[in-house]
Amino acid sequence: MSTSPTTITLRRPDDMHLHVRDGEAMRAVLPFTAARFARALIMPNLKPPVTSTRQALEYRRRILEALPGGVRFDPLMTLYLTDRTDPAEADRAKADGGILGFKLYPAGATTHSDAGVTDIRRVDAVLARMEEIGLVLQVHGEVTDPDVDVFEREARFIDTVLSPLAVRFPRLRIVFEHITSRAAVDFVLRAREGIAATVTPQHLLMNRNALFAGGLRPHHYCLPVLKSEADREALLGALAGGSPRFFLGTDSAPHGRAVKEAACGCAGIFSAHGALELYAEGFEAAGRLERLEAFASEHGADFYGLPRNSGQIRLIKKPWEVPASYPYGTDRLVPLRSGERIAWQAVQEPPGATAGAMPAGTANR
Ligand code: DOR
Ligand code: ZN
Repeated sequence: MSTSPTTITLRRPDDMHLHVRDGEAMRAVLPFTAARFARALIMPNLKPPVTSTRQALEYRRRILEALPGGVRFDPLMTLYLTDRTDPAEADRAKADGGILGFKLYPAGATTHSDAGVTDIRRVDAVLARMEEIGLVLQVHGEVTDPDVDVFEREARFIDTVLSPLAVRFPRLRIVFEHITSRAAVDFVLRAREGIAATVTPQHLLMNRNALFAGGLRPHHYCLPVLKSEADREALLGALAGGSPRFFLGTDSAPHGRAVKEAACGCAGIFSAHGALELYAEGFEAAGRLERLEAFASEHGADFYGLPRNSGQIRLIKKPWEVPASYPYGTDRLVPLRSGERIAWQAVQEPPGATAGAMPAGTANR
């Protein structure tokens, strides 16, 4: 007899860390997220980056216009922090209401981060203002020193930047984004109030061996890079433990096949086609499927002081084969699990979505 459920119904979730790009690329990927998530926190690392409230509102409008007809989805925005960000921009962002904070990219840490912050002390005035008015700092937590081992950059960032930052600004609310290591889990669990973290499906389900399984695997390359099995187990344990400090943020980051399968391939894993379903696999493996809902639909909203979503989404245990690739402008997009199976699939509950609004699994084809 099997005791594992074959259907779970959860409150509509939020993706609190998402890259949707712009233009044609955005139109290719947005339907996947909007079919599953009621809201997503949209990352601002466009070229040029989204550094002002005005740019964020224009970007938000383009996202809304790109939504498939009849689909309701609320893009939550964050601004790209630079050495030159004016503290008054924090006030403008706060006044808007739909802008939740600023994203800190250490300059050079990852894709489109060259306009990021070169030294955290340069943005002290902005951070002080954010702390005062209650804007959240989302952090890409890796040092950029090329001499630091790539697998150690997150741990080093905790010691040299994040820990001191949390002390210097004791009321600043901080989300440590896409954590990958035991060190990060330990930091978050022991940290002061007002500190939380997002976890991606890839870091929950894969370790760094996946980068080299049978050969070099560019579609498993993202930043921060996948870590050891012990690190992955620490992440899974943290989520299974149910702490409200951890919530869902896919970091789904599409890049066309041509720039991924290259001599110097881009960092980023596309997971929006099956993200919620992949998290379900992780929670199921940990024997804690009942904790998926709080992670996906409650902890993030609660941390950001947003109402929890109404409406529901249903997951059924019915494996489906992920296509080898999806259309992506003039290129193709190779999704996580390309050509392989995902154990769960999502269906709309109640079945109110327009046809085609649930791209991916077979239940909606
Ligand atoms: O792998 C990544 N891709 N990590 C990031 O931090 C940025 C993202 C992207 O925008 O492609
Ligand atoms: Zn990201």
